[in-house]
Amino acid sequence: MSNKAIYPGTFDPFTNGHLDVLERALNIFDRVDVILAENSNKNTLFSVDERVAMVREVVSGLPNVSVDVLHDGLLADYARTAGAKAIVRGVRQVKDFEYEFQMSLLNRHLYPEVTTVFLMPNVKYTYVASSIIREVALLGGDVRKFVHPYVLKMLASKRELLKNRPSSHS
Ligand code: PNS
Repeated sequence: MSNKAIYPGTFDPFTNGHLDVLERALNIFDRVDVILAENSNKNTLFSVDERVAMVREVVSGLPNVSVDVLHDGLLADYARTAGAKAIVRGVRQVKDFEYEFQMSLLNRHLYPEVTTVFLMPNVKYTYVASSIIREVALLGGDVRKFVHPYVLKMLASKRELLKNRPSSHS
């Protein structure tokens, strides 16, 4: 039986920190499915289709990875149906841990066969979060070191789109 994990997240957008975690997971598991949560209670900059397109592009060279969307429902149910034994989550700092700890124990409650595995990205990504990348990129800052060129392009086109949108104050 294959030793499969799922790597869920909002990925708004997928960063090099996410990619680093995914590559580490691929050293442990036979297969890793990246799962984009559509309804993660977050107002995302990118639509789920845009996020999927970005992840597909970034992971296109990696073997044994697939990309899927959790449209609604519980991640634990998705893991059960997919036959995944592990949920991979990246942790960068101690402050990430409280939320991760809660989610991990709840997911275990919902699906006792699943184990959450926490992986630390390379230290150079410890301060890279999608939220800060979005903010810096939309304000015109250079985020080339932190995202794939395709994601960079998508951030640039979002910036143009937002710049050209009529202001709600006018
Ligand atoms: O990248 P994020 O936003 O930290 O990822 C959070 C995510 C998507 C993993 C979490 O919100 C999730 O699992 N959502 C699916 C719905 C669910 O199962 N919620 C209960 C989690 S215990």
